[in-house]
Amino acid sequence: MTAQSQEEMDFGAEGERMQKRTVGGGLLITFEGGEGVGKSTQAERLFNKLQTFGIDAIHAQEPGSSDLGNNVRRWIKRANSSSPLAETLLFEAARAQLMFETIRPALDAGKVVVLDRYTDSTLAYQGYARGGDLQTIGQLNNIATAGLTPHLTVLLDLDPKVSLARVSNKPDLFGGDTGPGNTRVDDESQRRFEEQPLKFHQNIRNGYLELSKRDPRWCVIKADQAGHRIADAILKRVRRLLIEREIPESIFKS
Ligand code: TMP
Repeated sequence: MTAQSQEEMDFGAEGERMQKRTVGGGLLITFEGGEGVGKSTQAERLFNKLQTFGIDAIHAQEPGSSDLGNNVRRWIKRANSSSPLAETLLFEAARAQLMFETIRPALDAGKVVVLDRYTDSTLAYQGYARGGDLQTIGQLNNIATAGLTPHLTVLLDLDPKVSLARVSNKPDLFGGDTGPGNTRVDDESQRRFEEQPLKFHQNIRNGYLELSKRDPRWCVIKADQAGHRIADAILKRVRRLLIEREIPESIFKS
């Protein structure tokens, strides 16, 4: 969506003209978690909810939501032999492009950005799970994002024994990839991360849990609950952030 169209007036349910609400400086909400925890579904759910409240929001995913990002996604899922550093640099390149093209302009325009994966994915996957140096990854994350930290990071936490079973039972394994700004780029032969041994996924989970202890921006939610309960817990945190940014409480009653 262009900056101009984001500024456009929208029609409310009763046909009244209603301006979409923005927040000063924008709001970056990221979703993190291992494979099959339901993060893409929850990100989409939050985005839809924000729209029904009349809040100006966008929804994007990493890697993806740009031409470069989609190509990195396709490559990364297929390649078997990249070093953790090479892999990290590809994710960072895709991230830098998404920042430039989409995230920074959206935040500058006061939008809420719902982002499916961000810098913490690189720390968890290329760092904790693949053994890349965490400090180097932190530096690369900072370069790619100019140090942009999320206002809120939702971690959906689930034992990988449960989440991987969910993934393998899913008929459309990469359904999430038809999501924001993406064409379908994965196929059955591209399950590289999902096919790693259980220990790899346990390291991802432990890495995320470790990261979540360091900063109050994290909201850790157990992902073995009913979807609507997870969505309610996320919305509660997001409402609080929006109210703190002078969005009137009354809009959440609709
Ligand atoms: P997903 O978003 O559908 O889960 O697919 C993206 C895959 O890429 C997933 O296996 C996690 C992986 N990934 C990384 O390893 N590092 C990163 O920095 C990002 C953004 C994703």
